[in-house]
Amino acid sequence: MHLLSLFTSHLSPFTFHFSLFTLTMVGIFDSGFGGLTCLRSIREQLPEYDYLYLGDNARAPYGTRSFEVVYEYTWQAVQYLHKQGCRLIILACNTASAKALRTIQQRFIPLSSPYRVLGVIRPTVEAIGRYTKNNHIGVLATEGTVASCSYPIEIHKLYPEVRLTQQACPMWVPLIENGEHTSAGADYFVKKYLDSIFSQDPEIDTLLLGCTHYPLLEEKIRQYIPSGVHLLMQGEIVAHSLQDYLLRHPDIEQSCSKTGQCRFLTTESPERFSSAASLFLGEQITAASIKLD
Ligand code: DGL
Repeated sequence: MHLLSLFTSHLSPFTFHFSLFTLTMVGIFDSGFGGLTCLRSIREQLPEYDYLYLGDNARAPYGTRSFEVVYEYTWQAVQYLHKQGCRLIILACNTASAKALRTIQQRFIPLSSPYRVLGVIRPTVEAIGRYTKNNHIGVLATEGTVASCSYPIEIHKLYPEVRLTQQACPMWVPLIENGEHTSAGADYFVKKYLDSIFSQDPEIDTLLLGCTHYPLLEEKIRQYIPSGVHLLMQGEIVAHSLQDYLLRHPDIEQSCSKTGQCRFLTTESPERFSSAASLFLGEQITAASIKLD
């Protein structure tokens, strides 16, 4: 028997033929373009690592889909990234973090496994308390994230004194996925959801964009929020949290390859993904097309 095969990990019920001595990329997953807002901050903060981004653009948005469907799609993506050699995967998607992460961790990635899948909600909640001065926090998110109550549950565990108001913004992700987020027409829906959340609690001083797509609407959002409101985006929070995680888990850190490369995969047209992502990231990228099932 080859020595390396002694160290080949076995995940039940799925088996990934992957040696622990193999250097791996960090996988970043989102339903579409949204995770790029996290990837950009992660690469700014941790440029030395190699990343593999996967956007399931063909099936976005996830925000209006059922728990079962979001779970199934997310699990397919996680398995795909594992097979590509990602030992550590970030679900750079609040909807997937809210609806699929716990099931995936509990059913398929026990702590004894060498694989790790991390979400974005917990690190965001840990950071949010640092920003509010009057304990009035607003969360803008997809219908799925709002319905899951993940933010109210997690925020109240750490900060029971916070008054939290949630607002679902179901039109924002379709505007972004269709490249309409900078158009004049987008203003109507940006203003609509912001008016709604501030009419529920005019004292909100910290507004979280609890969907990784929403920073792409930042310019328009800033036009319609009261001055003095702190707009909180997740990119830097997620990047800090990944840095901290790698410091606390040297075995995983040492297994990460470090050539500063980033590859992109999409389930939709690679040309469309490449041009939108190149524009957003400010560098020419070329995506490859894949199928998830
Ligand atoms: N970017 C995602 C999130 O953070 C998913 C949005 C969607 O596909 O509806 O929730």
